[in-house]
Amino acid sequence: MARKKKVKLPKTIPTHIAIIMDGNGRWARSRALPRNAGHRAGVENLRPVLEACVEFGIRYLTVYAFSTENWERPADEVQGLMNILEDVIDREITELHENGVKLRHLGHLERLRPALQEKVLKAIDLTKDNTRISLNIAWNYGGRDELVRAIRKLIEDGVPAEDITEALVGDYLYTAGCPDPDMIIRTAGDQRVSNFLLWQGAYAELYVTPTYWPDFGREDLLDALHQYASRERRFGRVPGPVTSS
Ligand code: FPP
Repeated sequence: MARKKKVKLPKTIPTHIAIIMDGNGRWARSRALPRNAGHRAGVENLRPVLEACVEFGIRYLTVYAFSTENWERPADEVQGLMNILEDVIDREITELHENGVKLRHLGHLERLRPALQEKVLKAIDLTKDNTRISLNIAWNYGGRDELVRAIRKLIEDGVPAEDITEALVGDYLYTAGCPDPDMIIRTAGDQRVSNFLLWQGAYAELYVTPTYWPDFGREDLLDALHQYASRERRFGRVPGPVTSS
């Protein structure tokens, strides 16, 4: 196995990074391949990026794999993506579990085939006590849809309006119990958040790279981490110690 180049890590490492894995289609087109070949290359790229996250001390990795809007894509592409999810679970779940990866699903399963729903739930259950790194897969996920569902549930639970706090809303989201992402990386150059983690990403640092997702590797992640460490996160405050005026 090729030896990994020793890297110089920045002092501040984000706890949670989230990735909009964009550019699979363009990656495929640039090679005259069908779009689903790009998605296959994209999923193959998850493993080295996940390994790099473990190596660099990142505790949570969230990936945007299938959005609530992606159902509008051609049927064969949607089917191809569903097959990829199923193959990944079949092929990788044992190794992920043995390596301490806790799998979590962000989104809802309703439109997935029952057998696939069951596989996802089983994989989550198998890995639920793992602690090395959490891998959140956003699948059939939309930030607006997540908020609508949270509001409905709050109402169904009869929560009085005055009891609704930011913390409580957070408990009703798919990410309940998971820290907010510190950084959102988007590959393939577009500068938008595309309905991803709308609530949780309120103060995430955005990092956009022109690299297509299947080509985004350990060195690219490291560049993003250096960029992150150089940012000043103020969370709406002014820099420096807190003083009263
Ligand atoms: C965006 O590229 C990518 C997607 C919509 C799908 C991403 C899915 C994977 C990488 C597979 C992941 C699977 C699992 C199980 C986690 P695009 O198709 O929009 O590319 P384009 O903008 O270049 O057309």
